[in-house]
Amino acid sequence: MSLLGVRRRLLCAAVKPPCSLCCSLWFLLLLGAGSLLLLARLQNLTEPVLQWRPALAARRQHQLAAKCVQVLVAPRRPSQKEADDAAGRRPVSPPALRPQPLSSSLFSDSPLGSKQPLTKRRRKLLLKSSVAASSSPTGQVEVALQLSRMQESRHRLLTDICAQYQPGVDRRPPSQRQVSRVYVEERSRLLYCEVPKAGCSNWKRVLMVLSGSAASTRDIPHDAAHYENRLPRLSGYSRAGVTERLRSYTKALFVREPFERLVSAFRDKFESPNSYYHPVFGRAIISRYRANATHAALRSGAGVTFREFVQYLLDVRRPVGMDIHWEPVSQLCSPCFLQFTFIGKFESLERDANFLLRSIGAPANLTFPDFKDRNPLAERTSSSITQKYFSQLNATERQKVFDFYYMDYLMFGYPKPFSDLH
Ligand SMILES: *[C@@H]1O[C@H](CO)[C@@H](O)[C@H](O)[C@H]1NC(C)=O
Ligand SMILES: *[C@@H]1O[C@H](CO)[C@@H](O)[C@H](O)[C@H]1NC(C)=O
Ligand SMILES: *[C@@H]1O[C@H](CO)[C@@H](O)[C@H](O)[C@H]1NC(C)=O
Ligand SMILES: *[C@@H]1O[C@H](CO)[C@@H](O)[C@H](O)[C@H]1NC(C)=O
Repeated sequence: MSLLGVRRRLLCAAVKPPCSLCCSLWFLLLLGAGSLLLLARLQNLTEPVLQWRPALAARRQHQLAAKCVQVLVAPRRPSQKEADDAAGRRPVSPPALRPQPLSSSLFSDSPLGSKQPLTKRRRKLLLKSSVAASSSPTGQVEVALQLSRMQESRHRLLTDICAQYQPGVDRRPPSQRQVSRVYVEERSRLLYCEVPKAGCSNWKRVLMVLSGSAASTRDIPHDAAHYENRLPRLSGYSRAGVTERLRSYTKALFVREPFERLVSAFRDKFESPNSYYHPVFGRAIISRYRANATHAALRSGAGVTFREFVQYLLDVRRPVGMDIHWEPVSQLCSPCFLQFTFIGKFESLERDANFLLRSIGAPANLTFPDFKDRNPLAERTSSSITQKYFSQLNATERQKVFDFYYMDYLMFGYPKPFSDLH
């Protein structure tokens, strides 16, 4: 169903007499609208469309928005044509097959033209976040619809790739490793798999506020977020507890363009003083991959170059082990096993994170923070910085790094970062 189609149906809905189901929904929505006026003010969904309009116009739009939500969430059968469309349509076009410049377009995976009927999961997500936004213009409903469609399409891509590459993995019993990086927030029934260098410090702050162990994300220093967060991990639950939570909680994952995540990790751990990564990783890397290393370098482990770091990464007999900061997400978070229901991207972190917060019914005054903890003076790793680091590698090395993160590229629909990769 195209967005235009949705609009048309909304207009029709506005003139139809309400049925009893609509009435009860209508009541709920009004309730929601009243109590969440403040919320919509504060949440600032980060979209340019979400502008405040004069009160009168806004009120008329609330009513329309409320109706929109009714129509959008009302269960319906897909028409024959839609069913045909859905059946005749290839589920996903394989990503990463065309040469593409390194880009982080927000809507790069936007399925705006998609004709998929609303599924139960998306309806649920949409209902919650649209109710939260119902004191605002129709624009918010449209944005919520776009975002929930985008979630639907990311989820579909992940399940398709998993069906192709790891069929049946989600039907096996959970192993410790598969659930050890997943944090549990009981009050909002949320599971969050930690991916370093993709907004995880700020996610931990948010989880601490959600769980009631902190009043505001502002008051939580970086180290406290990581080492004193008191957040339970899924691996701490019984087998039955794990299974039940995997079945019924929102399972969220935030990912990042893999090359950019790698460069971000390298800059963070090796380009500024670090009392763990320099002695443990730096020394091993320099002594293995640098000919004629100085004593000073061998002693401190400081000054690892990106190229040396990549040699370490690609070495099947690494002198030191893997690390969560550069481990592929496809291994770190076992996405095929966990079957995430929400996949956010670092490239649109605040928008995706706030959408998730609204859809799990987080307190109105809780929005996703944008603290940059590590090396606050260093420029955030961008695609142009990433290009610069990768230009230090030759084509073969770049290809090998791409192969190393290939499943991440596939599962999360990132385009090939360099046109000469295959
Ligand atoms: C919301 O965003 C607008 C600009 O997009 C900004 O002017 C305003 O201060 C923001 N409000 C809050 C509460 O963050
Ligand atoms: C949000 O509201 C709660 C109570 O409703 C309050 O305890 C908390 O301090 C508020 N947080 C912020 C950041 O204002
Ligand atoms: C290392 O030192 C040797 C002898 O001093 C020299 O022949 C060689 O070229 C140096 N290698 C590198 C990579 O600098
Ligand atoms: C690229 O660098 C590697 C060392 O990392 C070297 O073995 C290889 O020959 C180089 N390839 C090309 C095409 O220069």
